[in-house]
Amino acid sequence: MASLLQPIQGMSDIAAPEVAYWQRMEAVARDVMERHGFSELRTPVMEYEEVFTRSIGDTTDVVQKEMYSFERSHHRLCLRPEGTAGVMRHAAGIGPIEAAGGRWYYIGPMFRCERPQAGRKRQFHQCGVECLEEPSPLVDAEILSLQVDLLRAWGIPDCEVHLNTRGAGGEHAAVAAGLRAALAEREGDLCEDCRRRIHENVLRVLDCKNEGCRAIVSGLPPVTSFMGPESVAYLEAVEAHLRAMGIPFVRDPLLVRGLDYYEHTIWEIAGRRAGSQTALAGGGRYRIALGGRDWAGVGFAIGMERVLQLLLESPDAASFLPPRRPLVWLVGLGDAAQSANLALMRTLRAAGLACRMASGGSMKSQMRAANKAGAAWTLLRGDDELAAGTILLKDMASGEQRAVPADDTLPATLLDAVSVARP
Ligand code: HAM
Repeated sequence: MASLLQPIQGMSDIAAPEVAYWQRMEAVARDVMERHGFSELRTPVMEYEEVFTRSIGDTTDVVQKEMYSFERSHHRLCLRPEGTAGVMRHAAGIGPIEAAGGRWYYIGPMFRCERPQAGRKRQFHQCGVECLEEPSPLVDAEILSLQVDLLRAWGIPDCEVHLNTRGAGGEHAAVAAGLRAALAEREGDLCEDCRRRIHENVLRVLDCKNEGCRAIVSGLPPVTSFMGPESVAYLEAVEAHLRAMGIPFVRDPLLVRGLDYYEHTIWEIAGRRAGSQTALAGGGRYRIALGGRDWAGVGFAIGMERVLQLLLESPDAASFLPPRRPLVWLVGLGDAAQSANLALMRTLRAAGLACRMASGGSMKSQMRAANKAGAAWTLLRGDDELAAGTILLKDMASGEQRAVPADDTLPATLLDAVSVARP
């Protein structure tokens, strides 16, 4: 029986000190996204199952194996496995005129019932964008550059962009037929899953991790050979824009992405770790049918846990965090001083200072609590100081202590002391 004291397997509590990195990543992401003209969209974590099954595709792993789905009040519902379909549901709900040109970003938890392992969780967090614009290599390249710039701003400069195309929607059948024909002779050598995939969704064969299948697949003609010249020119135009921006990439003819809504440009970004690579992010251009019409867009999602893991492995991870707000600890000797300190904390907090106090105890135990919490300053008073209208301000690092007036000037005195300590 699983322990009730632990989260569900593959899910995690995010607590201090790590939570500071999450908060910083989110703040940096909001800043970068908003500079690119995106506004935040918070969709519910639960949606009608069909929002995802229709757009992601019935034969994908996500839909076949990984959705947390259930029935409630005669409705099939699920926890969102990704962000794109919910954003498109929002766009379809507000209507084509309002949604046209929409640029939305999201940061939040996604749920996939996968076998938990390193870097693979059942609740994980994505930071993503969706941009509702008709196919344009210029826009695709801009969105890819945003993703690279966001990863840089998160302290991941060294990532590898893998780029490919799924071709225009009208070419998907020809690509599938071409691949099937090319694989026909080797069908018997493929793994059992791929023998099924050839007929169900042949692109998935290119994704297979099985060594034997990989060897067969690496000898296939590139998917672009089954597409028309416009699709190849579209991809080449994206590549030219990326070169013009100085964004390095590699053309990866085997890249297909695991979701079925894509057309034209697709990409994945891998982060380099000692001896291995990890998929940090994926994106591309897509077309999703909802509410009786098609919605064209381009976007990406970054797996935040995976980025954080890389960030934490770098030697200067701590420099990603803003300086900590120094803590002021109030020590009160006697009930009157404690009550006055409680009121004083409100004033100091309103002035922008971080303050805490203990609910009681000797001076020694209160000072110990201040030390344990990492307080930069303590303010100490007992009955004598209360009567004199003063308070003792102690710098915990140097041990220096001085009496200061406990009046309206105190917040400014403290803010001065704090800013001297934090140049
Ligand atoms: P995806 O490739 O399925 O794309 O997921 C994007 C990223 O989410 C992955 O590269 C990975 O970093 C992270 N991720 C996925 N599954 C897990 C997991 N089980 N545990 C930890 N991290 C995970 C999408 O979701 C598309 N909606 C991206 C997109 C947006 N395409 C266009 N717009």
